Amino acid sequence: MWNERYGAADYAYGTEPNRFFRSVLDELEPGRLLLPADGEGRNGVYAATRGWRVHSFDPSEAGRDKAMELATSCGVDLRFDIATFDSATVDADGYDAVAFVFAHMHESARTGVHRRFAAALRPGGHVILEAYSYEQLDYGTGGPPGTEMLYTVDHARRDFAGDDMERPLQIVSLERVVDDVTEGKYHTGRASVIRLVARAS
Ligand SMILES: C[S@@+](CC[C@H](N)C(=O)[O-])C[C@H]1O[C@@H](n2cnc3c(N)ncnc32)[C@H](O)[C@@H]1O
Repeated sequence: MWNERYGAADYAYGTEPNRFFRSVLDELEPGRLLLPADGEGRNGVYAATRGWRVHSFDPSEAGRDKAMELATSCGVDLRFDIATFDSATVDADGYDAVAFVFAHMHESARTGVHRRFAAALRPGGHVILEAYSYEQLDYGTGGPPGTEMLYTVDHARRDFAGDDMERPLQIVSLERVVDDVTEGKYHTGRASVIRLVARAS
């Protein structure tokens, strides 16, 4: 499905970064960034233009091809692995930020995946997350069609700052907002999203 979507000439979500991701990243000191499910690389390439050393991954080869084209046209380097949430490997020396931008996954896997990648943060590193919320089903402007792939504020809090975690992150900001999410052909307007910034201790 993703190879088919990314096989089209246009960038499915455009070539501009996600606005929330960009606004948070721009306030951080550039370092090493992990981008799970980076799709066609709009967020990874933007980060690289801001001086971040980027490690993206996504299972779609067509996505990687588009990401590398975008990186070349912007004159930046990007490491882009073909991998899933399960198969991706992380660098032992860690990351200064991990960003999940519409990196939706099934509820049965979500907490484990979020915590595994958050554990790869260096002390003081940040998680940035934007994902469609349950209420997005009322808007129909993009995202998965069922709640099993959608998020709530409580999910995000539990995944990154649960009291069952050995090293819970500190929540810097966490909210559900209704905002304009117009990004290419598949994110098409007012939407209900969860936005989180959290910091590793
Ligand atoms: C809605 S797109 C978002 C892409 C990108 N983050 C963006 O905002 O432009 C969701 C992405 O999840 C990827 N994906 C699907 N299943 C995955 C899995 N099991 N592991 C990692 N990524 C997956 C898809 O290939 C797709 O690129």
